[in-house]
Amino acid sequence: NVLILDFGSQYTQLIARRVRELNIYSEIKPYNHLPEDLSLYKAVILSGSPFSVRSEDAPHPDLSEIKGKIPLLAICYGAQYLAHFNGGNVAPSATREYGRAHLRALNGDEFLKNISEGSQVWMSHSDTIKTLPDNAVLLASTEDVENAVFRIDGEDTYGIQFHPEVYHTKEGSQLLRNFLVDIAGLEQDWTPDAFVETTVQELKNKIGSDKVILGLSGGVDSSVAAMLLHKAIGNQLHCIFVNNGLLRKNEFETVLHQYEGMGLNVKGVDASARFLDALAGESDPEKKRKIIGRVFIEVFDDEAHQVENAKWLAQGTIYPDRIESVSASGGPSATIKSHHNVGGLPDFMKMEIVEPLKLLFKDEVRRVGASMGMPASILGRHPFPGPGLGIRILGDITPEKVSILQEVDAIFIDGLKKWGLYDKVWQAGAMLLPVQSVGVMGDERTYERCVTLRAVESTDGMTADWVNLPYEFLQKTSNDIINRVKGVNRVVYDISSKPPATIEWE
Ligand code: XMP
Repeated sequence: NVLILDFGSQYTQLIARRVRELNIYSEIKPYNHLPEDLSLYKAVILSGSPFSVRSEDAPHPDLSEIKGKIPLLAICYGAQYLAHFNGGNVAPSATREYGRAHLRALNGDEFLKNISEGSQVWMSHSDTIKTLPDNAVLLASTEDVENAVFRIDGEDTYGIQFHPEVYHTKEGSQLLRNFLVDIAGLEQDWTPDAFVETTVQELKNKIGSDKVILGLSGGVDSSVAAMLLHKAIGNQLHCIFVNNGLLRKNEFETVLHQYEGMGLNVKGVDASARFLDALAGESDPEKKRKIIGRVFIEVFDDEAHQVENAKWLAQGTIYPDRIESVSASGGPSATIKSHHNVGGLPDFMKMEIVEPLKLLFKDEVRRVGASMGMPASILGRHPFPGPGLGIRILGDITPEKVSILQEVDAIFIDGLKKWGLYDKVWQAGAMLLPVQSVGVMGDERTYERCVTLRAVESTDGMTADWVNLPYEFLQKTSNDIINRVKGVNRVVYDISSKPPATIEWE
């Protein structure tokens, strides 16, 4: 197990990724929340930081329980911190050192094993280490940075000025491997299969013979969480899958069927009418979200009460949802996503929470799902917002609008699958616009609705670019929609990126 101490660098999550890619497990903690039991960790990595070590409000944690006792790798700010507090001298560099550089004069230390002379590394810092502490040994330099890599003599403590975690440091993974495997002696045994095995055992121990409730959404995270729990406790897991009336066409039936096929103990609850009644006449996007969130909690709470003596509530929370990061002001801030964030705690929230995926990144969740034999049709699904078509029908929602949009969306999504485009797109869907326009069908004038199609590329939804779908595909899809969906006479394609637009229109 590797501990990554976060000093607020934009690259901290990337360090965790690179370590995990070596099949070694790692955890990020904010620098001011050192874990009490450090014996759990076989290596510690210090991240970079936007701060200067010379500034009063910069992170200055006490590392006396770590340095010299556990193998320590200090990156960028971390390296400057090591130097500064051990008798070295850190000062502003004459030029901002940013971008490509090349390692020279490599010393034969095992830390640099298999790293080539001239290897490209990536720098991003404005302070520089002018002189090393007396007990430090210089291991390598670059053209502009003399003290680029060093070691504290007699300790497994290393400092590097560049960022091994970024793609542009060509041999960064090798360097991390040298440190973690050769120096710290960690095993590369953190695989999806191993994760499933240990997690299932932990869940068994933790839950015993208790009952657990889990809300399935049809999405990847809740489905994989359910499978893990199912492996651990079988039918003590009670899944609830709510139809809010705003799902894709046939989604409720298809997904429910799939879940049953996977052996899950799942109850499908069709609450469409309850949601649509509560939404009637409301056209404000945020109010629509609140109503959907509130009704979901009511329905879920009612259903949870039907399961007697349930002690646990399981959630599909994943790592990026809950990483404690260091905010710009220096204080640690917990980021917890809550799509159903409304006032008043319902009863099921008073249950104990179990989150089997809380340490995984999204692609790891998919790999874990695959290692349990889950179908690609579930693991490869595009993200879909909790409020569903409710925020893709602009303005107020009626059952008629829902069924029009379901038809349009189904033609678009099925088309993407048929044309082999579905897996190339991060997320896609259709929006029903509150606009009517004049058209002509046969000899008749029409005055009907307009829909827009949206397909984006993204990695996390934070930024996104529209996808350059083939004209032939758009042409065919537009024809199919207008010919087959009554009430629609115009189709447009959204060519805005995020920012400044967002993925959803509401
Ligand atoms: P935006 O529209 O903010 O969307 O660019 C970014 C990602 O978040 C999804 N999204 C939501 N998901 N509840 C959700 O569960 C919501 O209220 C919500 N709004 C947006 C959106 O589909 C995209 O993946």
